Amino acid sequence: MTNPALKPPKIVGETLEMKVANMTFMLERLAQDCAPLQFIRELTENAIQGVQAVDGGRGEIRWDFDRVRYELEPKEGYKLAVIDTGIGMTGPEMVEYINQLSSSMHAQSKHGNFGMGAKIAAAPRSTHGLVYLSWKNGQGSMIHLWKDPTSGAYGLRRHPNGEFWLQITDDIKPDPIKGHGTAVIMLGNNYDENTMNAPPEAQIPSRWITRYLNGRYFRFPEGVTVKARENWSALDDSHNMLRKVTGMEDWLKKNSSESGVLKLKDAKALWWILKDKVDDSGSHPANGHCAALYDDELYEMTVGHPGVIRLQSFGVIFGYNKVVIYVAPTQNESGGLTANTARTQLLVSGQPLPWAEWCAEFRENMPDPISRLIDRVAAGAGSTESAASIRERLKQIRDLFKFSRYRPASSGKFVVEDDFTNAGGMARRDGAGAAGSGAGGSSQRGNGGRAGDIYSLFAGTGTTPAEEVAGLFDPQVKWVSVKDGSRTRDFLEDRAAKYLALSNTIQANADFRVFTDMTARWCRQYGHVPSAEPVIESVVREWFQQQLVEAVLGALALRRSGNWSEQEIEQLWSEEALTSAVLPRYHIDERVKRALGGKLGTLKDREASTA
Ligand SMILES: Nc1ncnc2c1ncn2[C@@H]1O[C@H](COP(=O)(O)OP(=O)(O)OP(=O)(O)O)[C@@H](O)[C@H]1O
Ligand SMILES: [Mg+2]
Repeated sequence: MTNPALKPPKIVGETLEMKVANMTFMLERLAQDCAPLQFIRELTENAIQGVQAVDGGRGEIRWDFDRVRYELEPKEGYKLAVIDTGIGMTGPEMVEYINQLSSSMHAQSKHGNFGMGAKIAAAPRSTHGLVYLSWKNGQGSMIHLWKDPTSGAYGLRRHPNGEFWLQITDDIKPDPIKGHGTAVIMLGNNYDENTMNAPPEAQIPSRWITRYLNGRYFRFPEGVTVKARENWSALDDSHNMLRKVTGMEDWLKKNSSESGVLKLKDAKALWWILKDKVDDSGSHPANGHCAALYDDELYEMTVGHPGVIRLQSFGVIFGYNKVVIYVAPTQNESGGLTANTARTQLLVSGQPLPWAEWCAEFRENMPDPISRLIDRVAAGAGSTESAASIRERLKQIRDLFKFSRYRPASSGKFVVEDDFTNAGGMARRDGAGAAGSGAGGSSQRGNGGRAGDIYSLFAGTGTTPAEEVAGLFDPQVKWVSVKDGSRTRDFLEDRAAKYLALSNTIQANADFRVFTDMTARWCRQYGHVPSAEPVIESVVREWFQQQLVEAVLGALALRRSGNWSEQEIEQLWSEEALTSAVLPRYHIDERVKRALGGKLGTLKDREASTA
């Protein structure tokens, strides 16, 4: 066996080099950090590098099933294969590169190859084996990397000739390989596993490989053609075809109406506004989303609900389903930007990507076309004429909502005295003079929540940087709904509302059943009044809106009381918390009843008139 654990210890200078004692454990441990479909990326990447090494970098990569194997062994089912027309490997080369961790034909570095990719991402997902068939200089060879069912060790399977690699004839050479190229066949975890089937984690099962590769690659190198079979169910299925996979750049070019680049401090943000109608066949993520871009690959892509949340942090609070943002971090002088070993995440000097900083910078320098999109969609969202009457009513209880105008923020322009009372603090700009008086302005040190914390006795005062809480005034409320395009199903589905602290805006979900049920109920009661529905809808929304505004104002009032951290306060206006705030309905229903009586006539009057 070429298991390095069994090699005699290697002495480098005066040092006995450390070695791996338990390779199988280490391989499986590293594999756990890989994303489920990472093996597609790793095998594609190896194929790309193989193609780039020969014929001036021109060649083809195909994700298909291994036709020859199926014809020879139909009982085993269809086996997924990645086939490339790259430089290929000889038998001994395969033994060296594939059967050793951290072994690579390419320069190993933190920005280049790790020598691990395929081994850690693919081998543990196909323990029955990965078969490599490779042709170099016209000669074919094979190896079978597997997890030995008897010993449980990963390694190369011995062939009947006693060797760990075997020369093979051209009879089993797959298309489109000619003189050189490699095919890697995934046997799966069982003898008869159909590895063409999408694994459970895959999106769009009928074209899972296309979809994964498009979401992972921004573009493929010039000259490298990538194709994947899709709509696959069986050999005789006439729908299946090989489709060209191009990556996101090409799709975005065809499906966006505007695009641009915004320079950020240590990165550049590439953005696109999608056309109203896009190609959403499932081959690409076709809604708004975000990702990091590094070496033409996309990392940390957020789609669906997390994508909406991230886009809203970028300031795209409306129209987020039409905006794509990729941030490409720039390499710093110390070369601190690298992918983690599993290549699922990017790290800058060992730290996760600074998304929060990028979002803040982007928000402050929002490209005009995106601002216009946001305004356009926001204008379509139902806004409320009732804001004024709510404000009037809340005046009566204003003193119950004393709150600080400032909140702690590391990059804040202001400095506030550390005041642990509920009243807010005096705020100073650059330590000189008051920039505005907080609602209370008490400087007395309270005792809130510090009992037992000896360190807090040493808390500095007057040094907390803060930023002004956006708008001292009541939050704006926008009613969003799927009908008018101001909400997508990814966002707020079956939730009442979301508060966007940065823009002091509440997005209330007009489709939420607590609101629609109450409207429907009153519509039934006022069935006799023609066109009562818009009146009822607006009254119901007004009272729920007041409830939401109060919940947010009340939460803001608890800020800096010493008992609530910023994260805990945020939970008070989370989607879930705002949903709870509108669940009690008795009092709201009473107010709605009175308001409708005034506008549409009371139901008692109606009973009296029909009696
Ligand atoms: N399709 C292929 N064509 C040619 N050589 C290949 C192919 N697949 C693998 N190899 C060889 O096997 C080596 C090991 O591949 P592996 O993916 O494990 O590590 P790597 O590509 O070197 O590094 P990384 O960790 O960045 O993927 C490669 O460096 C390459 O020399
Ligand atoms: Mg690799």
